[in-house]
Amino acid sequence: MRKHDFDFDRLDEQPARRKSRRARFDDEPEPSRRGRLTEEERVRLAHQRADAYTETAIPGGGDRWSTWADGEQGPHPRPSWVITQLAAVDTELGVLKTGKEADVHLVRRGLPDGPQSLLTAKRYRSNEHRMFHRDAGYLEGRRMRRSREMRAIETRTAFGRNLIAEQWAVAEFAALSRLWSAGVPVPYPVQRSGTELLLEFIGDEDGTAAPRLAQVRTDEDGLRDLWYQLVSALETMAAHGLAHGDLSAYNLMVHHGRLVLIDLPQVVDIVANPRGLEFLDRDVRNAASWFAARGLPPEVLDPDALVGELRQAAGLP
Ligand SMILES: Nc1ncnc2c1ncn2[C@@H]1O[C@H](COP(=O)(O)OP(=O)(O)O)[C@@H](O)[C@H]1O
Ligand SMILES: [Mg+2]
Repeated sequence: MRKHDFDFDRLDEQPARRKSRRARFDDEPEPSRRGRLTEEERVRLAHQRADAYTETAIPGGGDRWSTWADGEQGPHPRPSWVITQLAAVDTELGVLKTGKEADVHLVRRGLPDGPQSLLTAKRYRSNEHRMFHRDAGYLEGRRMRRSREMRAIETRTAFGRNLIAEQWAVAEFAALSRLWSAGVPVPYPVQRSGTELLLEFIGDEDGTAAPRLAQVRTDEDGLRDLWYQLVSALETMAAHGLAHGDLSAYNLMVHHGRLVLIDLPQVVDIVANPRGLEFLDRDVRNAASWFAARGLPPEVLDPDALVGELRQAAGLP
């Protein structure tokens, strides 16, 4: 090879190579867009990258290895359908609902040729607008959105916001674990890792989710039965000193006639929380007015009597 050929080649090659590198970098997110990558997305990407380095590919077209070993696990006795094998894989089947505070997905966990189960993945978002404030003795939930505290939280780092999202996940997992153990009809809380809860899927084996109470059409007998299921659940909660805190026809599911309470991160301690009774009262009135609007007679409902009974069950005068 003659000397000048070599030199020309190199001179030609270098800028071209640099150009193609630059083009690749230009495709990557800009610094301003990277700011929007939430902490939990970062964690999930890190998991994916770690999975990519393991020798074996994830079998059966799964999206990740089971995260069973990574997180806090649900209470005992554990239902027999809970899959604890570490060789299981999780496959994303789709979105059940997206919201401001959390996204809810359908996930299948199982062994390629073994047992499988459907799970609900509730993933709290870091950019949510709820404030976590249990220690101050109150939780305003969605009504806090415009307050000074909310704006302060919005100026926090992605990391700080992720911590707040994780606190909501921790709180909901604890509430579900406690209520499930007390016999309240709630989805079995399988596990929590970071901002993600994995819950029993309330629905059919083909992945059809149960309707929320708000979407249920039934006759008076059906309504009466659902109301008494709700009363019974509220009584058990009150006996443990708890109120739902955000009870509505949207946070109740009905699976083949069985009422299930969901969405419990803000569960309220009726006794310790200075506004506990206020929340209890609001829960009962919200639910009763929905049933009344659907045609359940007032003598069946009697919200005043129910609030009194629940106060008593909680040990309050
Ligand atoms: N365990 C579950 N099984 C099936 N669907 C669920 C389950 N949990 C939640 N969903 C669906 O996701 C929706 C949102 O869940 P929810 O816990 O109420 O969160 P949020 O209202 O804070 O977004 C529910 O209304 C319901 O349709
Ligand atoms: Mg809800």
